[in-house]
Amino acid sequence: MKRIFIANWKARKTIKEVTTWLKEAQPSLEESLDEVVICPDFVSLTVVVGLLKDTSLKVGAQDISQFETGPYTGEVTAKMLEGLAQYCLIGHSERRHYFGETNEVIARKVERAWQSKITPVICFENLGQLIERPILKETPKQSALYAYEPPSAIGTGKPESEKEAKKVLAEFKNLSREWRLLYGGSVDPENVNVFLELGYVGVLVGTASLEAEEFVKIVSKPYALR
Ligand code: PGA
Repeated sequence: MKRIFIANWKARKTIKEVTTWLKEAQPSLEESLDEVVICPDFVSLTVVVGLLKDTSLKVGAQDISQFETGPYTGEVTAKMLEGLAQYCLIGHSERRHYFGETNEVIARKVERAWQSKITPVICFENLGQLIERPILKETPKQSALYAYEPPSAIGTGKPESEKEAKKVLAEFKNLSREWRLLYGGSVDPENVNVFLELGYVGVLVGTASLEAEEFVKIVSKPYALR
């Protein structure tokens, strides 16, 4: 089964930095047999799409509007992302905390992504958030990924304990065995295998994706386990 490695640069790179990063990392990332997804900000997104054209790497957006086309100043709609992004992070902890996103907003964003055939990466901080309707609704008929990202682990250098990560994965699998769960929160080249060996299908990487070399190490590491 293909693993999934997602780089989430957040609001941290200029177009120039993005271009340098890709030049450095792309050849090694392309060797991966797994799914590698780069999530730039909206300013860099089309540049990244251009640079990754004809490569095996995929592009994801970091967010998506809850609205369809219309008078929504500043918004980026799912329709605008059609043909550009294959994935979209939705409901990231930072969106909840700094932008007040609720489960209702997140559920609407998921619907928008599906309407545009974009695979949502539905982030949650605890299972309660996920189970609480209307995020969950029923088993998705369309493609979806989920990402467990405990706030205490995001950007702190303190990943979730193995015991807790195992427990959350088991409870998640009780909801549906078919759903695919990623782990995110202080993932680095040293600890990535802990989460993959537990059975997480992939990782969502923030800080350690900023340096091309670090992210390449994370993506390359699991090969030793095969
Ligand atoms: P981090 O961020 O790797 O810096 O903890 C992960 C995320 O927020 O997606």
